[in-house]
Amino acid sequence: MTDALTLSDVTAGYGPTHVLNGISLALPRGERLAVIGRNGAGKTTLLATIMGLTRMHGGTVAVNGQDVTALAPYRRNALGVGLVPQTRDIFKSLSVEENLLAAQSGEATLDEAYALFPRLKERRRNGGAQLSGGEQQMLAIARTLMTGPEILLLDEPLEGLAPVICEQLMQVFEDIAADGRRTVVLVEQHAEAALGFASRALLMAGGGIVHDGPAESLKNSDLLERHIGVAMSH
Ligand SMILES: Nc1ncnc2c1ncn2[C@@H]1O[C@H](COP(=O)(O)OP(=O)(O)OP(=O)(O)O)[C@@H](O)[C@H]1O
Ligand SMILES: [Mg+2]
Repeated sequence: MTDALTLSDVTAGYGPTHVLNGISLALPRGERLAVIGRNGAGKTTLLATIMGLTRMHGGTVAVNGQDVTALAPYRRNALGVGLVPQTRDIFKSLSVEENLLAAQSGEATLDEAYALFPRLKERRRNGGAQLSGGEQQMLAIARTLMTGPEILLLDEPLEGLAPVICEQLMQVFEDIAADGRRTVVLVEQHAEAALGFASRALLMAGGGIVHDGPAESLKNSDLLERHIGVAMSH
């Protein structure tokens, strides 16, 4: 079967700067990929490149076998690529429900979003600015889901959130991925949570891939410690 996402020898960056160097990656539909690496390793740039937000210097990006290298982000979004940025983009002056409706395209419904995030349903008339950090992250994720992505790119969704919220979000990601229709790429410095969710893990350093294998393969190796300076607790 055609892979959901294929990067072939991608070199990309910002303006003339090369950040990613020769990245090749193929994700079958339904894959759950964790991307782990130190600050500045190129994780956000990888997601931005899949979304079409960086300057390509070489290589190709394909979605379901279709070359999207020359397509703008909104065209890629229409083909099923959705990014939840590290900056949690929401409209602070709009209510929760207005934020969701503004993002809606295709067949995604408010009911589906509220089923995943009951808290957002309770807060649906609240303004974006009145939400807690966790609620803002929920809204950012729900907004992207309203575009009906088959490939969901999550950029450090747990960053700065309380452990109980992190657990809730990880459960939502399980629900999102459960039926195997969506391909999920989870960038996360919480290696333990990310590896608990993922089937496969990518370790990045210096704009390149230093390890790509089953998530299990990182749990009992010194790779994490060597490349990001953290060890798994078990
Ligand atoms: N808009 C930009 N213009 C120029 N260089 C950038 C830009 N954004 C990031 N970079 C550079 O690209 C490199 C990779 O950054 P990137 O944001 O992809 O790292 P990251 O792995 O996501 O880090 P973090 O864990 O801190 O989010 C860094 O050297 C960074 O300085
Ligand atoms: Mg980043």
